[in-house]
Amino acid sequence: MRRLIPVAGLALAACNVPSEFLQRMEEQAKYEYYETSTFWADGRAMRTPPEGTVPRERLVGDPGLTTGRVAGQFVSALPQSLKVDRALLEEGQKKYNIVCAQCHGRLGDGNSVVAENMALRLPPSLQQIANKPDGHFYVAITEGYGVMPSFAGELNIQERWAVVAYVRALQRARTSSAGGTQPLPQENR
Ligand code: HEC
Repeated sequence: MRRLIPVAGLALAACNVPSEFLQRMEEQAKYEYYETSTFWADGRAMRTPPEGTVPRERLVGDPGLTTGRVAGQFVSALPQSLKVDRALLEEGQKKYNIVCAQCHGRLGDGNSVVAENMALRLPPSLQQIANKPDGHFYVAITEGYGVMPSFAGELNIQERWAVVAYVRALQRARTSSAGGTQPLPQENR
């Protein structure tokens, strides 16, 4: 295979393929996690961040926004600092369909191919827990819930709230009549 590469390279060069195509960044020399390095005295490639470094993602000063709880209680609604508009709902829809729908179903009703084949515990219908506060959904995404893992690595804070807003939209869509909207159901159905 190795011997074929220069030949393929020549063939591609002949077709005027841009040179960057043949020098993909992901293939260039680089350190992997936990690799050794002769550059640093301690022999490790991974460095300790300077003291006091905080991840760019970490927002401080608004626990309701970042943790979904205030004084140990789930927040009842989306934090005020987030504007619930079409853009937020569309972001939530996109992320829900990528990260959650395969288990909880596109409609949030727990109907999905994965759910049908899950042996351990079925992903619940998110429609049936519409009475739970917004913080409950945010915390489930952030910390995980039972056998469901945390999705904090996949979704940043804003994206998690966007998903919560979209789940609310799915719940409302199920309980609205064509002629107008009804308030959210207050109890399980
Ligand atoms: C791999 C499948 C899977 C994915 C992906 C997944 N979930 Fe779950 N989810 C589950 C399962 C299974 C449970 C029940 C866990 C338990 O009870 O131990 C659950 C539980 C929950 C609960 C708590 C339900 C309750 O009764 O209060 C919420 C809320 C929830 N998921 C929302 C989400 C959201 C939002 C996403 C996307 C960010 C998501 N889940 C992604 C499988 C999944």
